[in-house]
Amino acid sequence: MKLTLSVIKADIGGFVGHSSVHKDVLAKVKEVAEDGKDKGIIRDVSVLVCGDDIALVMTHTKGVDSSEVHELAWNAFKEGTEVAKKLKMYGAGQDLLAEAFSGNVKGMGPGIAEMEFVERKSEPVIVFFADKTSPSAWNLPLYEMFADPMNTAGLVIDPSMHEGFIFDVMDAYTGMGIQLKTPEELYDLLVFIGATSRYVVRAVYRKSDGEIAAAASTQKLSFMAGRYVGKDDPVLIVRAQSGFPAVGEILEPFARPWLVEGWMRGSHTGPLMPVAFKNAKPTRFDGPPRVIAAGYQIADGYLIGPSDLFDDPAFDHAREECNKMANILRRQGIFEPHRLPPEEMEYTTLPKVLEKLKDRFKLVETKKPKFSSEGEIAE
Ligand code: F6R
Ligand code: MG
Ligand code: MG
Repeated sequence: MKLTLSVIKADIGGFVGHSSVHKDVLAKVKEVAEDGKDKGIIRDVSVLVCGDDIALVMTHTKGVDSSEVHELAWNAFKEGTEVAKKLKMYGAGQDLLAEAFSGNVKGMGPGIAEMEFVERKSEPVIVFFADKTSPSAWNLPLYEMFADPMNTAGLVIDPSMHEGFIFDVMDAYTGMGIQLKTPEELYDLLVFIGATSRYVVRAVYRKSDGEIAAAASTQKLSFMAGRYVGKDDPVLIVRAQSGFPAVGEILEPFARPWLVEGWMRGSHTGPLMPVAFKNAKPTRFDGPPRVIAAGYQIADGYLIGPSDLFDDPAFDHAREECNKMANILRRQGIFEPHRLPPEEMEYTTLPKVLEKLKDRFKLVETKKPKFSSEGEIAE
């Protein structure tokens, strides 16, 4: 029997500002999702929070893109929004871009990662969930998990992984995709996924049998809404063990923090800090960006877990490094490279500021401004 694991997430209002989620909002979302479980729409559900975002981790047998399952998530977020509005939570309903559900939550605001597989004798999976960043934040760790033998010993040692993996990559600007095989096309893969402002890894498959290994949310809210409506905080599902990377190989990239886009106003670069669930509350300069790792064993379609995988002192050093990196970047204030380059700022609120200044530009090569005796620009 094929099982589907669907993770659907949305920001439906922050408590306080954009830092966390109020317990009453969370309780309503849970109530609606669990009602869907009682009605048999889904087999099981687990609810996660990272910053101001809520994720529904759901199992069912209706396949990917099931309108029934998507509608359940939509309704849970819609009803949660009603509570958020009553409490005047910040940005209540911000990710629900459509008025009514129309068959699939894709393009309607929520982020979604889904995969279908036959449950193995034992099925460990990890759901990563990040706040104040974007889907391309997963490019580097996915490369390390599935294509870097210095991270994943299994690529060398385990015969069932030795053939490598296939990366499904999307150009976020055009929606075009390309599949690249590793290890043989590794350098081609890195040409694209190293350009995190444009390319995102959508999924990873095991080359020997085409089994799905990882699936990521790739929605870019700013492109969907045609204007900046908040950051597209991403989720990622990774299957572990027995022919996939071990849990520790999947978590290892996060022990060496790196920089991602999305801190403060979706306009800054910052370190992605791996944290325990209780610390997924970004408050310093609205950050720095956070990531949690929720581990589950799936048993007959039921989610046994979550286990809070970054709640481990072995990640303390990564957190300290993130704080050091944050201090270095904060020193730059509004200056690049802490602030994103102009192409990226196009999707923020900055163009509105630029609009009123654009007519003030003069061609300085041919015309220098003249100053009056009072020092004013005369022409
Ligand atoms: C939200 C985020 C925050 C906000 C910032 C300004 O995901 O990244 O840093 O962009 O708090 O929010 P507004 O414009 O809503 O006052
Ligand atoms: Mg928010
Ligand atoms: Mg968020």
